[in-house]
Amino acid sequence: MKIRIFRTEEQLADALARCVVQHLQEQPKLVLGLPTGRTPLPLYRALVARHAKGESDYSNVDTFNLDEFVGIAPSHPGSYRSYMSEHLFRHVNVSRRRTHFLDGQAKDLDAECARFEDRILRAGGIDLQILGIGENGHIGFNEPAAELSPWSHLVKLTLASRRANAGFFGGKLTDVPKEALSMGMSTIMHARSIVLMATGKRKAEIIAKTVSGAITTRIPASLLQLHSKVEILLDEDAASKLRSEGVVTSRGGRVHER
Ligand code: GLP
Repeated sequence: MKIRIFRTEEQLADALARCVVQHLQEQPKLVLGLPTGRTPLPLYRALVARHAKGESDYSNVDTFNLDEFVGIAPSHPGSYRSYMSEHLFRHVNVSRRRTHFLDGQAKDLDAECARFEDRILRAGGIDLQILGIGENGHIGFNEPAAELSPWSHLVKLTLASRRANAGFFGGKLTDVPKEALSMGMSTIMHARSIVLMATGKRKAEIIAKTVSGAITTRIPASLLQLHSKVEILLDEDAASKLRSEGVVTSRGGRVHER
């Protein structure tokens, strides 16, 4: 795992945006896996700003979002499709038919998960998967459990995850759906490269466990230790509980190899 630590979340976002734009320039048919939540918002702002400057072309890009709520329409303001449209898609030249979501309104949710996995395969697999992390170590909506699901699946959301998402539903916990569809751990681990971003003190504890703790289904993000191409991008706050040995200074953030 390569860990890069930035002074602020804006610096982190800018470095990652630069890296995404570079990927796009080298590989116009990039297949991107994308997260929602508060953490990626500065990244999406930075990507939109770079696009406005003419640095990027999304016309041949496919995107796959990690997860979506069950039972709400794509046009619902709390849906992850609405989030992506508001923060990224309507500001760049990505084609709507190339932005892929699990459909939480599908009649047969198992068939929908299979369709989504098949769509990823037909796109050639995910080149770059960007992730956030929940305070309990979830990635996508793969919540801590005795067993994890490998492929896209239906998830019963924990109260903590519903609370964390209440902000996207006008602060009303009762409006947050109780279920979601999420990529599974294998869907994520099959991406050719993975970047996990975390910012703020609230994430410091789980980041230390994810990076240096035991590999366990009780901390789904810890499985990333098994992937050969993972970068963890942190601000100083999220990095504050990492042991400091092995941290060296380099351009674009301190780099800490594990
Ligand atoms: C969720 C999402 C995750 C996200 C995580 C952290 O609910 N399903 O994909 O990474 O929570 O969210 P935040 O960035 O707001 O802390």
